[in-house]
This record gives sequence, structure tokens and C-alpha cells, in this order.
Amino acid sequence: MVQIKDVLSGKLTGREVELKGWIYRTRTVGGKVFVVLRDSTGVLQITITKGEVRPEQFEAAAKALLESAVKAFGTVVQDKRAPGGYELRAMDFAVVSFAEKFPIQEDQSEEFLLDIRHLWIRSQRMAQIFRVRHTVFAAIHEYFRGQGFWEVHPPMITPAGSEGGSTLFEMDYFGRKAYLTQSWQFYAEALALAMEKVYYIGPSFRAEKSRTTRHLTEYWHAEMEEAWAGMDDVIKHAEGVIAHACQRVAEERSDEVRALGRPPEFLKAVSPPFEHIRYDDALKALRAKGMEVEWGKDLRTLEERALTEGKTKPVVVTHYPVVSQAFYKRRDPADPKYVLGFDVIAGDDVGELVGGSERETDLEVLTKSLRDQGQDPKAVDWYLDTRRYGSVPHSGFGMGVERLIQWICKLGHIRDAIPFPRTPARFSP
Ligand code: 4AD
Ligand code: MG
Repeated sequence: MVQIKDVLSGKLTGREVELKGWIYRTRTVGGKVFVVLRDSTGVLQITITKGEVRPEQFEAAAKALLESAVKAFGTVVQDKRAPGGYELRAMDFAVVSFAEKFPIQEDQSEEFLLDIRHLWIRSQRMAQIFRVRHTVFAAIHEYFRGQGFWEVHPPMITPAGSEGGSTLFEMDYFGRKAYLTQSWQFYAEALALAMEKVYYIGPSFRAEKSRTTRHLTEYWHAEMEEAWAGMDDVIKHAEGVIAHACQRVAEERSDEVRALGRPPEFLKAVSPPFEHIRYDDALKALRAKGMEVEWGKDLRTLEERALTEGKTKPVVVTHYPVVSQAFYKRRDPADPKYVLGFDVIAGDDVGELVGGSERETDLEVLTKSLRDQGQDPKAVDWYLDTRRYGSVPHSGFGMGVERLIQWICKLGHIRDAIPFPRTPARFSP
């Protein structure tokens, strides 16, 4: 089957081909109907001239509305006036399905476009982003498999969360409380003692009311866990997987990212190592810019913006203060005020792409920090078995795949990185 990209490549000029697709634009001028046809690979003008197709075919072309599904057979000709430089001169034209009046016109509100997301995903821009998404997912799998990691799968229905109770989605599990997974981490730590190097990409759920441009309530999480590895080892993998995804997109999706406003050359230059900065030094750098952050507090959007300003690669912030950090992060033996934890921060207001750490292996420290955070160690007793039976040093991280896509595609809002976004305000269509 011939697709529009093949026509636009020039290799079919002068040939007779059949194309199938949807009407993207249409106008009738005198005895000609100019239909801009859309398929999954691009758009192309089809010229239907009265007298060159059967009369009922010309009539059908003239009355078919936007998004009608059509088939056209004709000759490919080069024509500078046509968008893309080529057109199809029809000899046969058939409407497969006449569309009703399409609800999307120009300049519609964001809210309306979200209401009819199932139709809006047909736009050129959405298709470009979804093609990048396809390449990013493949690149993540390729990176980890290439580094000897096993793909393993955790459950989505869980008895407890790893990232604290406030963002858990609760569900009724035959009369008992269960929760949608926030992270595979507990399962990953157990699996790392069996498979050593493990990774996975799957959905995570966060009941976060934050209405920001970078939070979804359902997002795809690329996570890895590695036995015998320390923080610096997994930071290398975080840099490696981000760089690999950028390279692949630059190679395979250069037209798409260029159209979206991200030059492929920018992505090509995203190679390891990234800049590393300790949390305390980040605070100093911010103070020098006139921004005061209370020690121990997480960095906010404006501070992340200031840290990444003018940088062409993400920045790795390490050694966060132990206060307010997840209970499982290992205390830094050199100074237990800090954890061996890190975030990878991207520019363009995307912020935290990756969060990871070395894991605390000391059973007593772990149970104490669980209690300190108001959690009952009994609730995750099975997880504590990882420390009772052959515990080893290990580390891992989680990366928000939509955030990576948002950054790669330079999107203003994370919701466009996924076809059907889930946010606090909506879960339909
Ligand atoms: O920093 P987080 O909460 O870390 C964890 O869940 C660890 N257990 C991961 C691990 O070590 N295996 O989340 C990891 C990443 C964040 O850096 C961010 O990119 C993304 O997940 N993320 C979100 N993405 C979109 N919407 C949200 N609401 C997100 N919350 C986190
Ligand atoms: Mg985090």
C-alpha cells in the first residue's frame, strides 16, 4: 500500500497509485475540487477535475466534509503550488464514509479540545508527538536490554505504596482496601535479589491534586533496579537512557521534532556525563541568584528553572537532606544528614525527569524511618524480608516517560505527551 510519505519522497513521481485517508481540508474552485488528504504519514493534495473522473465521483468529492474517509487513484505529479510540492491528479475518487460536520474548527478552547480528545488526536501535531513517543519507548527498552537488564513486571494492584500515603489511589478490593501502584519499587528490590539487573515500563498512579503543566494522575514510569550498584552507578544509567532516547529521536524522528520546535541537533548533543551538583551547592548557586531555599525543602519550579537556565543538558542534583526524603533512601555513610539520593532535572519547566537512590539496607534504620514517617512496618513486612535474607547494596530510579517526551518535544504541557491524559479535573474520554 502506498502512503503519503512515499509520494512526498519523490520516488513515485509520474506513477499511478492509490491512496487512502481522511479529508484534512477541502475547497472547490470552478471545475476542480482540491482535497488535502491526511493519512498516518502526512498530508497531500489531490486534485479532482470535472470530466476527468465520473460525474458522481466529482459530486461526491465536492460535497464530502472534513474527516470523510476516502480512496483516490491517480497520477503523482510534482507541483510547486501544492503543499509539500507534490499532488495526485485523480482518475478515480471514492468516498468510503461521509463524515458529519466535524466539531473541530480553528481557535477552539483547550477545554473543548480535551472534551473531544478522541477526535483531536487526529491532528498533525498529535501524530508527530505520538511518533516520537513510539521511538522513546523503543529506545528505553533498547538501552536497558543492551545493558543486560531483564524486563520484569510488578503488580498494579498493591497493598501499600512506596512513596507515602497522600498520593495513593484507593480501590475497593472485594471489601478490602487496595491501592493502584505509585512505583514498582518494593517489587523491584525483591526482584533484584533474584535477577540482579531489572527494568520495566508501566503505568504509575498518583492522586496528586497539583494542577501543573507536568503532573498527570496516570503516567508511564520507566524504572530500573540494580543489585551490587551504588548511587553513582545508577546515575550513569539515568544519563545513559536519557541520552540514548535523545539520539534515537534525533535519528529517527528529526522531521517531527523540528516541526514541534526542538532542533534534532539539540537532542544529538545530549550525551553523558551531565552536570552533577550536590543539593547544598545547588542552594548556594540559587542564593547567588537571589533565591533563598530553606535547607531540606524540595526545589520548586522557579528554582529548577534557575538551575537549568541556559543549560542544554539536564542537571543531576545529589545528596538531598535526609529530612522529607522517602524512608528507603540510604543515609550517606560520609554524613548521615544526607541521603544517597538524586534527581535529574530538565529545563523548559519540565523539572524532575528522574528520581532515584541507593537503598537503605540496614533493617533497623529502615524500620525506624518507617515509624518516623507514621507508617507501620508490619504493613510492608514482606518487603523487609529483602533485608533479612541475603540483603546486598542496591540502587534504582524511576523516570517519568511523559516528562521525557515533554522535554524532547518541547511541549508546554505534559498532557500532550500521552493520547488520553488523566488529570485531577478529568478522566474522560
Ligand atoms: O520521584 P518519584 O516519586 O520516585 C519514585 O517513585 C521511586 N520509587 C522511583 C524508583 O526509585 N524506582 O517518581 C519518579 C519519577 C519522577 O522523577 C517524575 O519524572 C515522574 O516519576 N513522576 C510523574 N510524572 C508525571 N506525573 C506525575 N504526577 C508524576 N509523579 C512522578
Ligand atoms: Mg521524586
